Amino acid sequence: MQIKVDRDLKVPVYLQIRNQIASMILDGTLRAGQPLPPERTLAQSLGINRSTVVNAYSELKADGLVDSRVGKGTVVLSHLTGEQDKEKYSDPPAWSQFLSHTAERSNESLLRDILELANRRDIISFAAGISGMETDPVEALRGIEEEIVSPACRFALNHTPAEGMPCLRESISELMCARGVEAGPEEILVLSGSQQGIDIAARAFLDPGDVVFVEEPTFFSALQIFRAAGARIIGIPVDARGMRVDLLEQALTRYRPKFIFTVPTFQNPSGTTMDLERRKRLLELAYRRNTFILEDDPYSDLRFEGSRVPLLKELDKNGYVIYLSSFSKLLFPGVRIGWINAPKPMVVQFTKVKQMTDLHADSLSQWIIHRYLRSGGLDAHLSRIIAEYRIKRDIMIDELITDPVREMEWNKPQGGFYLWCRLPDDIPYATLMVKAAERGVAYVSGTAFFQGGKGGNYMRLNFTYPSREEIREGIRRLKAAIRETLQAGERNRTQRERKFGEFEVLR
Ligand SMILES: Cc1ncc(COP(=O)(O)O)c(C=O)c1O
Repeated sequence: MQIKVDRDLKVPVYLQIRNQIASMILDGTLRAGQPLPPERTLAQSLGINRSTVVNAYSELKADGLVDSRVGKGTVVLSHLTGEQDKEKYSDPPAWSQFLSHTAERSNESLLRDILELANRRDIISFAAGISGMETDPVEALRGIEEEIVSPACRFALNHTPAEGMPCLRESISELMCARGVEAGPEEILVLSGSQQGIDIAARAFLDPGDVVFVEEPTFFSALQIFRAAGARIIGIPVDARGMRVDLLEQALTRYRPKFIFTVPTFQNPSGTTMDLERRKRLLELAYRRNTFILEDDPYSDLRFEGSRVPLLKELDKNGYVIYLSSFSKLLFPGVRIGWINAPKPMVVQFTKVKQMTDLHADSLSQWIIHRYLRSGGLDAHLSRIIAEYRIKRDIMIDELITDPVREMEWNKPQGGFYLWCRLPDDIPYATLMVKAAERGVAYVSGTAFFQGGKGGNYMRLNFTYPSREEIREGIRRLKAAIRETLQAGERNRTQRERKFGEFEVLR
């Protein structure tokens, strides 16, 4: 980019720069998406003050010819200058230049990739967090076709209230009662999946720069949502008894979070359950520090053994817990229905936030879930899937124990969907993923559940989705991939050590 300034001219220097760049943009010398030189660089090359260039760029911005973004510098925007120029500018818009900060912060495709893997026939997937296809309660759908065409049920295909179908809100309020929580239908907001509830909470409570506490590791979509909201995310470590509430106390002294996000029962990804003592302590701290808790609970109905631990919502006597749950893990993952249970004024507020993107959860899905709950089939279905998932978990563990990879450890969750495995700290996790994929097996690397690139030595294995035989075969393949990766690492290490040895000798 050639720019000249002439101090003898009457036109101020910043305008001379602005005019020259503007003509280059308008005549097509500078194309949409092209970056302008950094202000400091241009100032140095012209021998002028940086503030002069800043002023020139501000003028161009005001003219709508350029835009500047933190981390990206100043880039040329696309525009049309007249009929005769249309051909020159007939390229499609450079969409990335229009993206908002929120879109840039949410630029992650992990979930999409995982769901795609689950649908591939040539891959055994331990990656997806979805229920087993063989356990789908197809009886839930029997008779639905005649029903929805009958005049009495046509509303199942029509708009429904934003808060959810009244009959479903009532059924969910009864379900909450079975979970030990008294919640009236007016305290229930029906969602298009519980992930939407995390998003609604983020929109309702978080401004950029606000602090939110999460468990470390935690559900990766929650990390993505809080990141997109521009929040500062502080991780509180998890051990075998759930969130380290002792560390939370110190952290609460240091930061003032808007809320604490927790998956206390059969946590995703670690499978751990917060014990009663910690739950009580967590609530005490929340009351004392005037911080509320977002309890995300898609898995607590899926207990294979051990005694039930009360929900935080159940233990909370002061209204500090907002509760989220879902039918995705219990019934069909594609029937996207979840719910929030919160005090009525908050349900009203959340409904307003939800309505901006989603008028109401899909009516037919709501009807399917409602009629299934009313049929009384859920308990028997849960007993069936619990029995099946317990068997699958045990098959996975048995297969890991048979001829084990010495360096690998795993837990035995008492319920839920996942086994959480630990490998040596220095395992090259990207290599391992490639080697596993080459053998036709997928999992989620621990890095997805931590911030700042940590967690590469962990892997999350889902045992509910693959069939029993796929679990056996998949774990064999995975162990082979791990062994190969560890051996390659070992070879590299010895080579490095040998080189270092040679260097030592030479010295
Ligand atoms: C902890 C947790 N919360 C929320 C969700 C999302 O559930 P839904 O399918 O209802 O959006 C999941 C799904 O993996 C999850 O593990």
